Amino acid sequence: MRSLSVICFTALAAAASVFAQDANATTTTGSSATTSASTTDSSSSSSSSDSTIATATSTSSAATASGSSTGSSTQGKVFQRILQIWLENTDYETASTLPDYQALAAQGILLNNTYAITHPSEPNYVAATGGSNFGIDNDDFYNIPANVSTIFDLLENKGLQWKAYQEDLPSVGYTGFKAHNGSYVRKHNPAIIYDSIGLNATRAANVVPATQLATDIAAGNVPHWTFYTPNMTNDAHDTTAEFAGKWLTNFFNTTLSNKTFVDETLILVTFDENDTYPKANRVWSLLLGAIPAASKNTTDGTFYTHYSSLSTVEQNWDLGNLGRGDANKTLANVYSFVASQIGYTNVAIANGSSVSYFNETIPGLLTNQSYNETHPSASASGSGSASASATGSTSGANGFTTSAVAVTIASAVVAALML
Ligand SMILES: *[C@@H]1O[C@H](CO)[C@@H](O)[C@H](O)[C@H]1NC(C)=O
Ligand SMILES: *[C@@H]1O[C@H](CO)[C@@H](O)[C@H](O)[C@H]1NC(C)=O
Ligand SMILES: *[C@@H]1O[C@H](CO)[C@@H](O)[C@H](O)[C@H]1NC(C)=O
Ligand SMILES: *[C@@H]1O[C@H](CO)[C@@H](O)[C@H](O)[C@H]1NC(C)=O
Ligand SMILES: *[C@@H]1O[C@H](CO)[C@@H](O)[C@H](O)[C@H]1NC(C)=O
Ligand SMILES: *[C@@H]1O[C@H](CO)[C@@H](O)[C@H](O)[C@H]1NC(C)=O
Ligand SMILES: *[C@@H]1O[C@H](CO)[C@@H](O)[C@H](O)[C@H]1NC(C)=O
Ligand SMILES: *[C@@H]1O[C@H](CO)[C@@H](O)[C@H](O)[C@H]1NC(C)=O
Ligand SMILES: *[C@@H]1O[C@H](CO)[C@@H](O)[C@H](O)[C@H]1NC(C)=O
Ligand SMILES: *[C@@H]1O[C@H](CO)[C@@H](O)[C@H](O)[C@H]1NC(C)=O
Ligand SMILES: *[C@@H]1O[C@H](CO)[C@@H](O)[C@H](O)[C@H]1NC(C)=O
Ligand SMILES: *[C@@H]1O[C@H](CO)[C@@H](O)[C@H](O)[C@H]1NC(C)=O
Repeated sequence: MRSLSVICFTALAAAASVFAQDANATTTTGSSATTSASTTDSSSSSSSSDSTIATATSTSSAATASGSSTGSSTQGKVFQRILQIWLENTDYETASTLPDYQALAAQGILLNNTYAITHPSEPNYVAATGGSNFGIDNDDFYNIPANVSTIFDLLENKGLQWKAYQEDLPSVGYTGFKAHNGSYVRKHNPAIIYDSIGLNATRAANVVPATQLATDIAAGNVPHWTFYTPNMTNDAHDTTAEFAGKWLTNFFNTTLSNKTFVDETLILVTFDENDTYPKANRVWSLLLGAIPAASKNTTDGTFYTHYSSLSTVEQNWDLGNLGRGDANKTLANVYSFVASQIGYTNVAIANGSSVSYFNETIPGLLTNQSYNETHPSASASGSGSASASATGSTSGANGFTTSAVAVTIASAVVAALML
């Protein structure tokens, strides 16, 4: 059974509901915190009707422009900041036997029952910020429609700040497919793929070259929610897990050598997927930093997926949820040290592969759709990135036009799609 509070329907939402595909969509205006959907029991007895899964999103937040806000709503229950570091294409068994990962694990909580969502890369990065793979089963140039809600909406609704640090990103808010001979790739950027970010220069300004992290740490100015994507060499994609492990050690010894910063930040190191499709998609994951001292050098066998980082953040700051995988209690256990402190009950599953092998994409909004380079970018404000992604076409493969997107944005309505 699910419970949720009132949802403010708009004219656009009513119009949208005529699309069968969007029957589970709801919208809110940005003017009020109208929705806080929450699931209250196990998804194994899902009874949601088409109108019961809801999500609040908003375009009203000034979070990115207003400096740090210190109101109680930005106070996390257990941690005040999260940094995710994502590496590539490595089996659990491989990472767990390499000395660099083992040395790091001695400082953290090893999560030995954590699964990716699907293959290949892009739908996993997308899932970690949108709660769904949206039917994506490849690494093409996608632009996810601007009315699809994300964790960035939930964060901004609460006045929380976020940034995506991307190694070798050629410019702030860059929307192109790749750069520096493919050392930077859009498919590993979990924010810019969403048009709600990529087409909004204010929000795209939060997608920055990774060198900015050292600057932000020194200035004591790192946002509440952050994501770090190493380049294709450092993340093991074009090299090996061993190489990435050495990079990681060096990263902790240099950029992350500020003990104050590390101690006050929950750090998740994980891999996007493991390497063998016919096998269960278990990935090596580790929590570090702002964890209880007594939990260092321990293993947590709770079943987690990439949706767990969403649910944990949502619980920590009372953000509500996206109504997708992040709201599925089976798939989105909250990191147990957080769950125990806030009195959240996780679902007990000893071996995640008993739930799914997580090696196939679930159909969704973008199944059989190509959004290849259909939009000019949002770089009007000098991000200098338009040319790489724009083809001059304003009409996408679905017949979506940029003007339609603009109308949607101008009406200050963002719809949540339940997929
Ligand atoms: C979301 O945007 C897409 C593309 O513009 C459109 O086809 C769809 O109807 C919209 N859905 C809602 C619920 O507004
Ligand atoms: C939650 O996820 C489980 C495992 O994939 C699935 O069986 C179940 O149908 C999902 N529940 C909902 C409401 O989607
Ligand atoms: C809406 O959600 C319900 C419950 O998850 C599902 O049974 C139904 O098929 C969904 N409708 C659409 C149009 O996706
Ligand atoms: C762009 O994003 C900012 C910050 O979330 C928001 O305040 C603004 O309304 C958005 N602009 C549009 C056109 O959606
Ligand atoms: C971590 O725990 C193992 C035993 O599981 C022990 O051998 C090792 O010394 C510990 N390392 C640290 C740094 O505490
Ligand atoms: C989309 O772009 C990717 C990368 O350029 C390409 O491999 C793929 O074939 C394209 N898909 C379509 C349907 O054009
Ligand atoms: C990846 O980043 C490293 C710095 O960490 C740099 O030395 C290297 O040249 C980059 N790789 C490519 C292919 O640009
Ligand atoms: C270390 O990090 C803290 C918190 O982010 C920051 O206030 C401080 O300035 C940093 N110190 C140095 C030397 O970078
Ligand atoms: C990283 O720093 C630790 C001490 O904090 C040191 O023991 C280790 O040798 C360093 N590793 C590298 C590769 O610099
Ligand atoms: C997922 O794993 C199952 C079981 O090994 C296998 O039959 C299936 O082909 C795999 N799917 C993909 C896309 O590799
Ligand atoms: C991927 O992870 C699963 C689950 O741990 C494991 O069974 C499988 O062997 C891994 N793939 C490879 C190639 O080891
Ligand atoms: C994870 O580690 C715990 C504690 O060592 C162990 O009991 C459990 O069997 C492990 N789980 C998996 C899936 O290997």
